[in-house]
Amino acid sequence: MKFSHTLIAAAAAPLVTAQRPSNESICDYYSNLLLGGSNATTQLKLLTLLVNTAVIGNYSEGKVMVPGILAKDAMYNGTKVNLVPYFSGALKSTNVGEKHGVSYNFLDGGGAAPLAKSKPADDDTSHQAILLNKLYSYFGVLLACSAIGKDGFPAYNGKTSMYNVHKYMALDSYEVGYFIEQVGLAATSFGVSTGDVELVGYTLQGYFGNKCAPKTSVMSKWKKELQSICIADDCPDSPNATCKVYGKVVEPAAVVTSHSNMASPTSNGGDGDGGKETAAPSATGNNGAATLQLSAVVALLSVGMLAFHLA
Ligand code: HEM
Ligand SMILES: *[C@@H]1O[C@H](CO)[C@@H](O)[C@H](O)[C@H]1NC(C)=O
Ligand SMILES: *[C@@H]1O[C@H](CO)[C@@H](O)[C@H](O)[C@H]1NC(C)=O
Ligand SMILES: *[C@@H]1O[C@H](CO)[C@@H](O)[C@H](O)[C@H]1NC(C)=O
Ligand SMILES: *[C@@H]1O[C@H](CO)[C@@H](O)[C@H](O)[C@H]1NC(C)=O
Ligand SMILES: *[C@@H]1O[C@H](CO)[C@@H](O)[C@H](O)[C@H]1NC(C)=O
Repeated sequence: MKFSHTLIAAAAAPLVTAQRPSNESICDYYSNLLLGGSNATTQLKLLTLLVNTAVIGNYSEGKVMVPGILAKDAMYNGTKVNLVPYFSGALKSTNVGEKHGVSYNFLDGGGAAPLAKSKPADDDTSHQAILLNKLYSYFGVLLACSAIGKDGFPAYNGKTSMYNVHKYMALDSYEVGYFIEQVGLAATSFGVSTGDVELVGYTLQGYFGNKCAPKTSVMSKWKKELQSICIADDCPDSPNATCKVYGKVVEPAAVVTSHSNMASPTSNGGDGDGGKETAAPSATGNNGAATLQLSAVVALLSVGMLAFHLA
């Protein structure tokens, strides 16, 4: 822990002086600190800012550069990462209950533009609107928002097995590591303390970033289900790994358009594997010092520590 603290201190130290009391959740504490009060309205606002910034990158000036989950030239641990095809409909990676993934466009509510105005989408009914609203509530649960389910901050109404949601994406450790890093950077950019950012990172890594994790639930009233989002071979093994209960990992097929120059045998709609590009590792990242420091922290988090709680 000392090591990772030292690495990240330079990024976060200038932003934060206060210390969160142990009996207050991250959500409640930072709603109060950053938005002047803690109630359903401010908590939803905090989660909107956090998720939107993690998704599209920092959309206002600040001390921390957040490239964002949708960055096209993203780097993680020296390897190129591109999560856009999972959201744009370019891959048949969404689980709608069939035996294979299907293509869904989750950027159909105006894409980045409404997110940069701190809204989920331009409308209320697009895939984008529905997904973003679910993410506000789900991350609100993870960060233990006390007002979730109250007026103005809807309870989470999506699926509760994160494995089932993400299984046709066949995500690897770089993709999941990059995603978690963006959440951490977004939090850092608002002034969340180093310790709290680490806690969030540990929690996300522990629940979702290791393969073969035993059934569990992120809320005690939800039933225990499979939660590993990182399922590719390169993902770290969960403590108490139960690999047999997870399905075989199948790479998502690419959607072939008339303009596509990808050679991909997907006319049967199911099991081609031209979908994911694998980039050769390169020696240097380009996301700046803060990103590299957080990478190092996330790298150290791979042990998976379910014992941590955000509340
Ligand atoms: C690591 C922590 C992550 C958490 C906590 C998380 C959480 C969620 C949640 C709650 C949903 C909505 C589920 C529903 O619709 O019922 C979702 C959907 C989605 N996630 Fe993640 N996610 C994570 C990582 C990732 C990563 C690494 C990717 C990579 C591309 C990703 C891509 C998606 C996509 C494309 C959807 C829409 C799929 C759908 O609604 O069926 N997620 N995620
Ligand atoms: C946390 O503990 C302090 C001191 O014991 C107390 O004054 C405060 O009301 C508590 N806060 C919450 C949210 O329980
Ligand atoms: C929530 O807190 C904010 C900031 O203190 C305040 O302006 C607002 O009126 C509160 N909203 C409700 C519904 O209490
Ligand atoms: C994001 O933060 C970086 C670093 O402070 C800054 O240079 C950049 O202008 C910010 N981006 C936006 C859109 O404000
Ligand atoms: C692994 O399983 C043992 C025995 O059931 C249990 O005591 C331990 O807490 C588990 N560890 C984790 C990280 O789940
Ligand atoms: C980062 O990359 C190095 C070498 O490419 C590898 O040994 C290490 O396990 C990777 N770390 C993570 C967290 O992916």
